[in-house]
Amino acid sequence: MIPTAHIEVKEEGIIAKTVLMPGDPLRAQFIAETFLENVEKFNNVRNVFGYTGTYKGRKISVMASGMGMPSIGIYSYELFNFYGVENIIRIGSCGAYTADLNLYDVILTTDAWSESTYAKVQSGCEDDTIAASVDLNNKLEKIAEDLGIKVHKNRVHSSDVFYRENFDEYKDIYETHGCTSVEMESFALFHNANVLGKKAACLLTVSDNLVTHELTTSEERQEAFTNMMKIALEMAE
Ligand code: HPA
Repeated sequence: MIPTAHIEVKEEGIIAKTVLMPGDPLRAQFIAETFLENVEKFNNVRNVFGYTGTYKGRKISVMASGMGMPSIGIYSYELFNFYGVENIIRIGSCGAYTADLNLYDVILTTDAWSESTYAKVQSGCEDDTIAASVDLNNKLEKIAEDLGIKVHKNRVHSSDVFYRENFDEYKDIYETHGCTSVEMESFALFHNANVLGKKAACLLTVSDNLVTHELTTSEERQEAFTNMMKIALEMAE
């Protein structure tokens, strides 16, 4: 059933088996223009840009997810289910729940805890914690080691809410559920991979710290996330 409602590609094979997913379409464009060769843009629908190219001669695609679980839920489902995509690696930003994480530190997400109803509504799955693919994580960890980039292997909180009325609730989520950082997409991505028999992983770069109140600007973020991008790009096949 292609093209799908949100991706205008009419044939399989245009999109690589491995897709990197930043949240921001401009970050997808930046990655394609900066790191890929032989680039072809395959999606413009809603300005959610998608590109296929080669990295060191190996094929890879990069496409934005938008923000939040409903958004990444739609795009990852269509890529996995209709376009033959096998692996999706989210490359995003997160807020740190502990002063032990510094701005620009890279996190390899072991699993995502969430109070979201995404998994329950999607398939009846009652789990509140969903793991990333161990196979993809092992590969990403090895690549990071080879590149000399330190990664923290941590559980993340996938939140439906960015602006909470009770800011301090993060302390309880850190202590009770062991989440060291917060973002808004991994739980839905990992769930979709599970129900569709595919693989997903997530690398995050710390963009703000809820304890120390340090934060980065969106311009800094776009280009400073290169460590995370270089690790993910090595997954090209
Ligand atoms: N909250 C939720 N998502 C985020 C944050 C945050 O503080 N920082 C980056 N993504």
